[in-house]
Amino acid sequence: MLSVAVLISGTGSNLRALLEAAEDPGYPARIVAVGADRDAAGLAHAEEFGIPTFVVPFRDFASREEWAAELGRRLDDIRPDLIVLSGLMRLLPASLVAKWQPRIINTHPAYLPEFPGAHGVRDALAAGVEQTGASVIVVDDGVDTGPILAQERIPVLPGDAEDTLHERIKPVERRLLIDVVRRIATGELDPSAHP
Ligand code: GAR
Repeated sequence: MLSVAVLISGTGSNLRALLEAAEDPGYPARIVAVGADRDAAGLAHAEEFGIPTFVVPFRDFASREEWAAELGRRLDDIRPDLIVLSGLMRLLPASLVAKWQPRIINTHPAYLPEFPGAHGVRDALAAGVEQTGASVIVVDDGVDTGPILAQERIPVLPGDAEDTLHERIKPVERRLLIDVVRRIATGELDPSAHP
């Protein structure tokens, strides 16, 4: 059974989908902890499912490195097989990434390498593209530049706004994430084999 720690910053709707998937006895992964960089609303999903939560508030630390060092200590205590960044809106320093790579993955609401960064949906709309997408990647020390494990195209519809487009992307992200975690757990997908 693959143990998974999930890190979030926001509403955690993709986290919730993973929690629901992991309720199935046939699903080969279990969520063992959910952490956040702030008092994120999505922590309530973990609490509802009886999963331990922790917060390492970014604002309480003088630097990104100090914040990440504390986050790293928490993850060391939990010792998950896999870390999932599910809407964690913070860059992790290279030292932390190097320690967990390739057992640290991220979901992103665009068809990488198109539209990396914090505003993937907004940037796709601003560029006027006819389709965008959803991706699951291995985290590296760039901004959404790691090896792609799964991705899918999603059309941009006339009249789409950032929220409507994002709400159409998220269900695809959830499906991809649940499938990637399942395939890593069964050994069908080896994240280290993706250069
Ligand atoms: C998701 O769309 C995720 O891909 C995105 O934040 C959203 C979180 O939604 N992450 C990024 O943009 C990271 N660059 P949720 O909190 O409802 O799961």
